[in-house]
Amino acid sequence: MIIVLLGPPGAGKGTQADLLSARLGLPKIATGDVLRAALRDGTKRGLEAKAYMDRGDLVPDSVILGILQDVMTSPAAKKGAILDGAVRTVPQAEGLAAMLKQIGRKVDKVLLFDVDDEELVKRLSTRTVCEGCQTPYMGREPGSVCEKCGGRLVRRKDDEPEAIRNRLEVYRRQTAPVIGWYGNNKMNVLRIDADAPVETVTGRALKALEEGRGARGEGRGKRGKSK
Ligand code: AP5
Repeated sequence: MIIVLLGPPGAGKGTQADLLSARLGLPKIATGDVLRAALRDGTKRGLEAKAYMDRGDLVPDSVILGILQDVMTSPAAKKGAILDGAVRTVPQAEGLAAMLKQIGRKVDKVLLFDVDDEELVKRLSTRTVCEGCQTPYMGREPGSVCEKCGGRLVRRKDDEPEAIRNRLEVYRRQTAPVIGWYGNNKMNVLRIDADAPVETVTGRALKALEEGRGARGEGRGKRGKSK
């Protein structure tokens, strides 16, 4: 099964991708992690991506489609994959669909994690991540030690206030239209209210995958800020 995770920066895509990966036995493919690893390794792809990432802009579609081509045709993705933040423009959605069609596959499910802007800014401005395994943490200072791998926690450059503002704007302008694109292509986008404890959100996502419909939080009105 190939699952695409959509949602604004800070919605919890990475957090949920790890948990869903463990529950469903599918590898997580996060283009942000792939690009940061390329940068650490000093590859051409990483160096090309750096300036875009630091500002909170999107890396060119050609770079992302190159990554998706490599990973989706690799043996690791034979059973499927959870694509975390890997589709952020309509040309990327089109390119991925065409590439998968060539190998007789398709995107099976699309999950959209919905959180309003105030909560997103709070999460991103207090987040640290492990330099080694990329696990995100809330409320841990830079320099603390990662529980999973013993790596050092750091603040991401694109979690500075100006870059956060830009990432939210880029999401609205370039990524939100992907939701409509999937809808127009007969894909039911499963909208999850992701402003809830992590385990609750995982439960909602698993239920949505099983039942084929989204999950709104108890007693919540219509949410709209993150489209
Ligand atoms: P990427 O690393 O994917 O960043 P992002 O999309 O901005 O997403 P984040 O990692 O910031 O947030 P998330 O939704 O994964 O939330 P998380 O689980 O960490 O991409 C970085 C850059 O790479 C992009 O800006 C772009 O330049 C480039 N790029 C990548 N893919 C691209 C593509 N396809 N096209 C073009 N460019 C691309 O959670 C956030 C925080 O909240 C954490 O601290 C976490 O602990 C906490 N948290 C999570 N869930 C909850 C919860 N339920 N309650 C409370 N706190 C929570």
